[in-house]
Amino acid sequence: MTAASLLRAAPDAVATAARRVMARCEELARVSADTASIERVYLSPEHARVNRLAAEWMRELGMRTWQDAAGNQVGRIGDPAAPALMLGSHLDTVLDAGRYDGIAGVLIALEVVRLLRVPSGDDGWTVPLPFAIEVVAFSDEEGTRFGKALLGSSAVAGTWNDAWWDLADADGVSLRRAFLEFGLDPGRVGEAARRPDELVGYLEAHIEQGPELDRAGEPLAVVSSIASARRFQLVVEGEARHAGGTPYDMRRDALLGASEAALAVERICSAEHHIVGTVGRFEAFPGAVNVIPGEVQFSLDLRGEFDGERDRVWDALARDLDDIMGRRGLRWRAREVHSAAAVFCAPLLQDVVAGGIRATLPTRSEAPPVIFSRAGHDGMALGAIADVGMLFLRNPDGVSHHPDEAVSAGDVAHGIRALAEAVLLRGTEPA
Ligand code: GLV
Ligand code: MN
Ligand code: MN
Repeated sequence: MTAASLLRAAPDAVATAARRVMARCEELARVSADTASIERVYLSPEHARVNRLAAEWMRELGMRTWQDAAGNQVGRIGDPAAPALMLGSHLDTVLDAGRYDGIAGVLIALEVVRLLRVPSGDDGWTVPLPFAIEVVAFSDEEGTRFGKALLGSSAVAGTWNDAWWDLADADGVSLRRAFLEFGLDPGRVGEAARRPDELVGYLEAHIEQGPELDRAGEPLAVVSSIASARRFQLVVEGEARHAGGTPYDMRRDALLGASEAALAVERICSAEHHIVGTVGRFEAFPGAVNVIPGEVQFSLDLRGEFDGERDRVWDALARDLDDIMGRRGLRWRAREVHSAAAVFCAPLLQDVVAGGIRATLPTRSEAPPVIFSRAGHDGMALGAIADVGMLFLRNPDGVSHHPDEAVSAGDVAHGIRALAEAVLLRGTEPA
């Protein structure tokens, strides 16, 4: 089957597949720890429930399924001895999440398998490709529970760090204990790791989580790279004193210094091309109405297209913080809690994704949009062992990590077609 013939053969099948993706996103949204919002974190009962559902949907496609040693749900179809093209995304969520971040990518991958599989006698189903296909529903991309993102995909990439075992959730439950309570053996996490020679590459479809495609009136884009990121926990120290009795010339108000710092993040980052900085957590101590804040703790999430640019911005920010705190008689310190280098999508996989998009919209003359992802993705971890490629779907208004997150069934249909075509195109290249 050629790419073009798949498109012509299956318009109704693709529309049905898109409707199934939308319905299953709703079904998975109901698997939540909270009745009023969507919340599904690593190693929770909800994680186990969505893995069971995903496994059922994988088996319905003739896939062999297993839950790996880090709680990722995997399905495989095709020659058991061949390397696999891995497709997937994640099923965990942030708090008060939307329905599509990660989830749509897993379900789109399953529909791609459905479109490509053919009956193969006694063996059940196969795919007309020189490699097997695996679909992985990664167990922890967001890092919501333990504060460390990409736990599931890091295990698959073989980059698990034993220092993570003592990370604790908000209730003080360690990652090690959560593994045991989920029925996983911490001593066997290494068994989730895959070797580079087992994989042909990793392809992921994901909503954009930003407004570029919506603004451009385009349904799909090729992703060129995934942002480089650093996260810090900052502390500003001043002096807690009486709110009434302390004149202004004696105040060392940590909240005012930290507020200036948050504004400096906006000023410095917005003056740069492709750099974004966010202060997402901000807490004043002792936190009483009649006490000048003596300490503020806040977070900084810094992202950019290139590592060097991101680091230069952090250095500029640090100089600004020295000035601000010096002027106000405050002290500050920062602890780096996360650092991830930019991951560049492989040129071959960018080409097949572009080819997939062009086949989906055969009338377009110009090349499809190419954008870099400011959001993090499982591909950041997978890049250690495989070529990575990504396809973005338009995300109306760019709202994500929020219950209003959206994608249209029409764009999901385009995404399914484009990813199926990209897989077929990859099949025409050497493994
Ligand atoms: C994950 O979605 C992130 O980009 O923080
Ligand atoms: Mn995601
Ligand atoms: Mn996310």
